[in-house]
Amino acid sequence: MDLLIAGGTQFVGRHIVETALKRGHKVTLLNRGQSGQGLFPGVERLTADRTVDVSVVKGRKFDSCIDVSGYFHRHVRMLAEAVKATVPHFCFVSTISVYADWRPSPAIDESFDVATTETPDHEVRDGKDYGALKVLAENAAKAVYGEGTLIVRPGLIVGPGDHTNRFTYWPTRLHAGGEVLAPGPKERLVQFIDVRDLANFILDMVEKKAGGTYNATGPATKMSMGDMLDQIQKAIGSNAKLTWVEPKVLTDGDVKPYTEMPLWLPESEKRPLFASISNAKAIAAGLRYRPFAETAKDTLAWWKGEKNPPKGTALTREKESALLAKAKK
Ligand SMILES: NC(=O)c1ccc[n+]([C@@H]2O[C@H](COP(=O)([O-])OP(=O)(O)OC[C@H]3O[C@@H](n4cnc5c(N)ncnc54)[C@H](OP(=O)(O)O)[C@@H]3O)[C@@H](O)[C@H]2O)c1
Repeated sequence: MDLLIAGGTQFVGRHIVETALKRGHKVTLLNRGQSGQGLFPGVERLTADRTVDVSVVKGRKFDSCIDVSGYFHRHVRMLAEAVKATVPHFCFVSTISVYADWRPSPAIDESFDVATTETPDHEVRDGKDYGALKVLAENAAKAVYGEGTLIVRPGLIVGPGDHTNRFTYWPTRLHAGGEVLAPGPKERLVQFIDVRDLANFILDMVEKKAGGTYNATGPATKMSMGDMLDQIQKAIGSNAKLTWVEPKVLTDGDVKPYTEMPLWLPESEKRPLFASISNAKAIAAGLRYRPFAETAKDTLAWWKGEKNPPKGTALTREKESALLAKAKK
């Protein structure tokens, strides 16, 4: 296939491009040419700031356009309208953050209520109303491509190349060893998807020219924080000692959920369980998961190979020690 990928040079898009090339597709990239210079030699790059003008794609024929880098409705509509006449299929990469809240019951499927915003024209990547703005961006794609638009809503995306340290923290921290703060409760469920499984799913769906909306997160069966840490330890051969800490120690210690303590969120009315996103529709459509041990090992191997391994926003060792000391008082 002949694919236009809007983005493609950082993390999620980069894996989609790598997978597409491995599958023998022809890829053309649309981005500003600022990130990932030197990546994908031989792949055509159309240079444009998509927030300003995407006329560079007009008249170009592709089998599908995969928009990985759209956050705001105006930009997504502008791209969709620019390619509509010559590109029959459009895929928009969205997020599970579109949901109005994360109530656990029933599991959140694709028909669940979505978030709204009072500032629909906010166009700054500062996280404000991220999910609600992605809803509007989804709608912009659908306004142009109709029900045949493919919308993929991933959960936390993890694996080699993830610079945010939101999952990478765990394999690297467990690899470093010693006493490791484990955020309780141990039974609390976690959800995430390996970026390579996501890339495969997106391309499988694009190859079928599928439309519709799909939550794309994992794992296939329920995994608790306890299971996850145990399985990472086994996969990477870590002898770290886990000390489980009550959530109150973290909330009192002003630990920022999720970003500072990866994959941990305190209970709240809006998200009593957190991992309540249903992936049934995507699994029925063909989403498959690699063994989790592979995700853990490969993420650690990638991080070890980086010249400047990303620190992200995760907990520092100093803060971890202070919290462990508090927990023992
Ligand atoms: N990470 C997660 O856990 C997670 C979870 C759910 C959903 N998502 C979704 O996954 C996507 C994230 O993908 P990624 O950032 O890893 O994708 P990526 O496609 O690998 O990287 C972002 C691309 O956007 C391009 N870009 C940035 N600003 C641009 C502009 N103004 N005009 C044209 N191109 C521009 C960048 O190139 P230049 O800098 O050269 O322009 C780069 O190629 C987002 O849609 C996000 O909502 C992520």
